[in-house]
Amino acid sequence: MNEKIRVLIPEEDIQKRIAEVGAALSRDYEGKEVLMICVLRGGVFFACELAKHITVPLSMDFMCVSSYGSGTVSKGTVKIIKDLDENIEGKHVLIAEDIVDSGNTLSTLIKLLKVRKPASVKLCTLLDKPERRVVDIEADYSCFKIPDEFVVGYGLDYDQHYRNLPYIGVVELNEEA
Ligand code: IMP
Ligand code: MG
Repeated sequence: MNEKIRVLIPEEDIQKRIAEVGAALSRDYEGKEVLMICVLRGGVFFACELAKHITVPLSMDFMCVSSYGSGTVSKGTVKIIKDLDENIEGKHVLIAEDIVDSGNTLSTLIKLLKVRKPASVKLCTLLDKPERRVVDIEADYSCFKIPDEFVVGYGLDYDQHYRNLPYIGVVELNEEA
């Protein structure tokens, strides 16, 4: 491959921050039960790690969505590739997502889920790129705000590669290659 990966957030920092956010969620959801929705595929590493740090009763469900449109810019339309198995009516839904970039995917997904009448819907994201936002959406819980750079690792991919990196890295394209 003609690219190099520069470490942006080391593994230890990610672990520490997820534990902190998990503790905050455990406090905020005290006395309630959480239905964590993991957004496939990128959110899977984050959701699994975060779930381990949540102490209130929790169940997990998985949804796979894709944003219409080509390249790296998502559009406002979201296609459900795999829907939830559970009925979310009356449940406290917590979405675990890898990154909020333009915000298109999440804002559409949240609207779609609200139609199903959950008791509440909150968004928890590992990464947030506020500079890229085109839709007015803010995560209820965000682990790291990052600059406008294309990142991989901890679930995030570049052309389906690098999801398994235990850290977050920036893709640097090798110009000469
Ligand atoms: P949106 O632009 O907020 O709708 O984000 C759409 C999706 O683009 C995210 O869920 C990620 O899967 C992907 N994405 C956005 N930024 C990055 C990045 O820096 N690296 C890898 N995937 C990204
Ligand atoms: Mg995603």
